[in-house]
Amino acid sequence: MKTLHFQNNHAMPILGLGTWKSAPGEVYEAVKEAIRVGYRHLDCAPIYGNEPEVGKAISDCMAEGLVQREELWVTSKLWNNQHKREDVKPALEKTLADLKLDYLDLYLIHWPVAFHPEVRSPKDVSGYASLEEIPLEETWQAMLDVRSEGLIKHVGVSNFSQKKIEHIHAKTGQYPEANQVELHPLLAQKPLVAFCQEHGIHVTAYSPLGSKDRPESLKSADEPVPLENPLILEIAQKHQATAAQILIAWQIHRNISVIPKSVNPQRIRQNFEAAQVQLTAEDMEAIQGLDKHFRLVTGAFFCPEGSPYTLANLWDE
Ligand code: A2P
Repeated sequence: MKTLHFQNNHAMPILGLGTWKSAPGEVYEAVKEAIRVGYRHLDCAPIYGNEPEVGKAISDCMAEGLVQREELWVTSKLWNNQHKREDVKPALEKTLADLKLDYLDLYLIHWPVAFHPEVRSPKDVSGYASLEEIPLEETWQAMLDVRSEGLIKHVGVSNFSQKKIEHIHAKTGQYPEANQVELHPLLAQKPLVAFCQEHGIHVTAYSPLGSKDRPESLKSADEPVPLENPLILEIAQKHQATAAQILIAWQIHRNISVIPKSVNPQRIRQNFEAAQVQLTAEDMEAIQGLDKHFRLVTGAFFCPEGSPYTLANLWDE
């Protein structure tokens, strides 16, 4: 398995298992199956509502001798209502307790969006805190501090634009080590990926398969479906692969780590085997031609009328 190299020569397997939308009751078996198949990278977050079960699967796999802690790369994320300096370490400690781990390999600021501490999911605009009230650099400094304490090996961000990365760098002198963003052929984000890679910031692709299982409220009518795209299907046929495998292989060929979610044993295996698919330069170029800058996860849920967040200031575009 190809790896991405971090400081201290730590290596992140480029392909991991996503757990967003993996329900309690099914994620335990999914994580165990993934570890049996050979996955060594798990992507988690407390807001996914399943970290205790992911943690049980990891600890059972270790107890059964299937894997050792140091062979695994586990990422988790700081939720939006824990952005205040004093809330970052307790949030991390809760995630560590749920995952039954004593360190994370990578901890990310989940969104450049802050909620008031008592609000996990705002019911109205009073739940939002602006970035003037809780600046990103305050959160970022607290993330750097928990890295210094050894509770996490590496630190990064998610859903950050180039402008926001430059902002936290200007304030603290430290770039994130990773940025996890939505990426698939309909949203290739070439300039952001180039900026990150030029600055030693590893990029991870979420929703690489188009996240068709996300809530209906987050979908728009007649949205394009990457898994059904005719060009992807044609390239899949040429390689005797599946459309999902082409979508995954495309990220790997761009040196982007990729975290397809599945709770189905056959698809967990199929997605892992995508690492063997060898795309040609022509395939890569043709897939690049599909880019429409089309977001599936628009962030509009953070931008109701009166919120300090708008689509323009969320994505800086
Ligand atoms: P399932 O969990 O039943 O396998 P994303 O990673 O972009 O969020 O996409 C996840 C969605 O894609 C889920 O609905 C998941 O369903 C489905 N999925 C995962 N792997 C495959 C695959 N190889 N082929 C088709 N659909 C897949």
